Amino acid sequence: MAAARIGIIGTGWVGTSVAFSTLVSGHAGELWLHDQRGAVAEGEALDLADGAAFYPHCDVRAVALEQLREADIVVLAAGRNGRPDESRLDLLRDNARIAAGIGRALAGFGGIVLVVTNPVDVLTRVVAAASGLPPERVIGTGTLLDTARLRERLAGRLGLSPLSVHAQVIGEHGDSSVMLWSGARVGGLALRDWAGWRAEDEALLAQQVRRAAYEVIRRKGATNHAIGLVTAELIGCIVRDERRLLPVSRVQDLPGGLRGVALSLPALVGANGAVQVTEPAMDEAERQALAASATVLDQAFRSLAG
Ligand code: 2OP
Repeated sequence: MAAARIGIIGTGWVGTSVAFSTLVSGHAGELWLHDQRGAVAEGEALDLADGAAFYPHCDVRAVALEQLREADIVVLAAGRNGRPDESRLDLLRDNARIAAGIGRALAGFGGIVLVVTNPVDVLTRVVAAASGLPPERVIGTGTLLDTARLRERLAGRLGLSPLSVHAQVIGEHGDSSVMLWSGARVGGLALRDWAGWRAEDEALLAQQVRRAAYEVIRRKGATNHAIGLVTAELIGCIVRDERRLLPVSRVQDLPGGLRGVALSLPALVGANGAVQVTEPAMDEAERQALAASATVLDQAFRSLAG
């Protein structure tokens, strides 16, 4: 994708962090910012453009919503933030209304939508339904962030680099997320065979990963940097057609109980979106946890109709 045009809807904490990470990573040829507070989007665009000497060439400007239909990738980062100790699903009603409106405005859009706003899984399904776009082209950042957090915590516990730890989180980006301990590997070794690994570490680390965002929000009111980096990474995968297997959220069409629900499973992420979803190897407890996560998300989506 030469000189990709990346649009960002919502220039609050998260949208501006996505913009910054995207600029520095050099994945965008044009970066278009939109916010219902037009002056704020303009101010952010001017501020970012002032730094142009320090990132790979990119034109940054504020645009109207209609202009975003010409983008290659549109990032949905509009909505209100979570409050301390409010779950991501508690945000549902307020942000679903916004996401549905944007989804309708993107009907017939030819590019890929990246949903970042929480609750990201339910909103991914809302945008897919409202826009009518194929499921592989409406991608939620999902548990890619939880996976990064898990690898970071695991690396700290084991005293080695996160790059040498292979472990995934799937399901909801939120309280019912599923850590795949049975498949976690350190180098070529199963984590559960690693010297010094204790069964009780699993509950402890799972709790840390699930609490990570709450701990940040309690202190500074929002999370933005890590999710900005995650989103820029996904933009890079799409722009460069990398086809990396990453846990991201999308409406699933695998046979079985997950069909129709948006949640994270590993998918090949590239120029065509999130394709070829694979169900990873799971033990019975993980399988049940994934089914429970799907039920939570399905009920949350259905509650919107009531
Ligand atoms: C995060 O996990 C709040 O979903 C956001 O950082």
